[in-house]
Amino acid sequence: MTTKLPALLAVIACAVGAASAPASAAPAAAGATMPGAALYHAFCAQCHDKAIYKAPARSFLNLMAPDAIYGALAGGLMRQQAAALTDKQKRWIADYLGDASLARAAQAAPPPTCVTRGGSPAARSQPGVYSWGVDLGNSHSIPGDVARLPLGEIGRLKLKWAFAYPGAQRARSQPTIAMGTLFVGSQNGTVYALDAASGCVRWTFRASAEVRTPIVLSRTDLPELRARAPLVFFGDIIGRAYALDSKSGKLLWMTRVDEHPSATITAAPAYYKGQVYIPVSSLEEAATIAGYECCTFRGSVVALDAFTGAQLWKRYTIDQTPAPVGVTSAGTRVFAPSGAAVWSSPTIDRKRRVLYIGTGDNYSQPADDRSDAVLALDLHTGAIRWIHQMVAADAWNVGCILDNGECPTKPGPDFDIGAGTTLVKGRGGRDLLVAGLKSGDVIALDVDHPAKPVWSIRLGRGGIQGGVQFGLAHDRNNVYVPISDMAQTHERGTVTEPPHPGLYAVDALTGKLRWSAPAHDRCVGRADCDPGIAASISVIPGAVFAGHMDGRVRAYDALSGRVLWTYDTTRSVKTVSGEIAHGGSIGGGGPVVVGGMVYVNSGYNLYWHMPGNLLLAFSVDGK
Ligand code: HEC
Repeated sequence: MTTKLPALLAVIACAVGAASAPASAAPAAAGATMPGAALYHAFCAQCHDKAIYKAPARSFLNLMAPDAIYGALAGGLMRQQAAALTDKQKRWIADYLGDASLARAAQAAPPPTCVTRGGSPAARSQPGVYSWGVDLGNSHSIPGDVARLPLGEIGRLKLKWAFAYPGAQRARSQPTIAMGTLFVGSQNGTVYALDAASGCVRWTFRASAEVRTPIVLSRTDLPELRARAPLVFFGDIIGRAYALDSKSGKLLWMTRVDEHPSATITAAPAYYKGQVYIPVSSLEEAATIAGYECCTFRGSVVALDAFTGAQLWKRYTIDQTPAPVGVTSAGTRVFAPSGAAVWSSPTIDRKRRVLYIGTGDNYSQPADDRSDAVLALDLHTGAIRWIHQMVAADAWNVGCILDNGECPTKPGPDFDIGAGTTLVKGRGGRDLLVAGLKSGDVIALDVDHPAKPVWSIRLGRGGIQGGVQFGLAHDRNNVYVPISDMAQTHERGTVTEPPHPGLYAVDALTGKLRWSAPAHDRCVGRADCDPGIAASISVIPGAVFAGHMDGRVRAYDALSGRVLWTYDTTRSVKTVSGEIAHGGSIGGGGPVVVGGMVYVNSGYNLYWHMPGNLLLAFSVDGK
């Protein structure tokens, strides 16, 4: 088990695309003799090791910063459970459980605070990018008047400022930039509002646990929102959704969106007309150590009132509660149907009053028709309008890698739809919904006649880390497809074709390949380095911006695929706090272009990717 643990942790990623694991497996192994260990077992394990509903699984506690755990015990949600403990004992438990790399946060130089709170009025009135997908249809297409970066000047982009997340080893939350402010989450649970021009801190908010989701802002689409600052929405890895005031960072509400102990939120919420839609995923797929009764989680989307956090509806991807269906060869009970997690951001179709989501695999056998599927839900009730399953019989869990008897007897390929689907307005009112799968397939459905795909194309060999992993883009003309095709995903002999990492453009209406830009291997043997693109991408008029797993961010000519600009984010740079820091692999969220500047997060210590903790901001000539 010990030798296999890193592999297990690494795999969690792809599986849930989202949920994560500690940087190393050390806490559990080395920590057994720590003074907090016995206390944990005496005071906490009965809930956190036992899949008690609502209690986050221990694997989540291992992802938290020790000071956040201490805070929960000393004066937060767990103060009653910890009432019998001394202050020292609470600290011991926090040190034993938490991610030690985050403890270093306390020693890092603090980032500078802005002298003026609000920034310049000119910057405040500039248009921005308010959500992960840029628009309701998740096009990832940034209009020219928002990007304000002429094609001819892209080659002159230089680093303007860099921001190191204190104590972090990954930077995965795609930044959102509006009103001259950049909003971003981080590994120790701190959400930052930074001055977009200089990187100084306007405010911070501390969530309970890591914030991997992009930050999403409300629009002025209701009268009551015209007079006030936009609301800020995000989720944390222990399944809580939050709303803050964008001006002050003050908490407006916090809601736990699912009772399952493994529930997590890793994809961007979607906002529309006073409602916020939260995609719910889980880490249960990776909880499948020998003897685990797999599996009881089902994915869902939860609609919340944007002003109060009250639940309006919750739609499970799977209708029935998972029930016992048999036993494994070792006699452990199996529950089904399970899984079909939602770790992609919902797409909103205003015209049809529908919300589209992509789902992941089933965790246990028998599989059902809800895994690796696109679901169209009624915006106002959550009722399912239609389902289109793209890969059938995909029941898989991490037990398949561990070979521990938890794996379904006929395992599927783990070909989730983890990238948010994207809505393409076609001719004559015929709208296409384009989905990218971890299989490397890209499939377009006519949303009014979804039974048969309009087009499909296979661009990658696929695998448990994609294929398409986190997000596509389109500019109505082309759909741009990033392919990861990681070389070594430690699968058991299921991947035999050569990889095709890189960026591809296909005709949005026909799916015909327009150009390919294969990513060349510049890793020269560097550990955990891969040439492909897993993170989501963005398009501005004339150019596509993509962050690669080798740490390079590139701009591609949208017409030809020619590389216009490259920057290696793994090199060390001086940050706004005066520290030297570096990025790593780019994963999860991708580059965003606003007001003539390009912003990208770099560093992804999970699942055989290069660690790093940098937010980089580029401008023409660095001015
Ligand atoms: C009786 C069951 C129970 C016991 C015992 C218990 N917990 Fe919890 N714990 C929970 C539940 C339930 C939640 C989620 C509460 C919520 O989200 O409203 C939780 C949440 C947490 C959180 C997240 C808190 C936050 O602010 O987000 C931490 C950290 C935590 N527990 C640590 C511990 C530690 C350490 C101990 C032992 C000292 C402990 N818990 C004992 C049930 C328990």
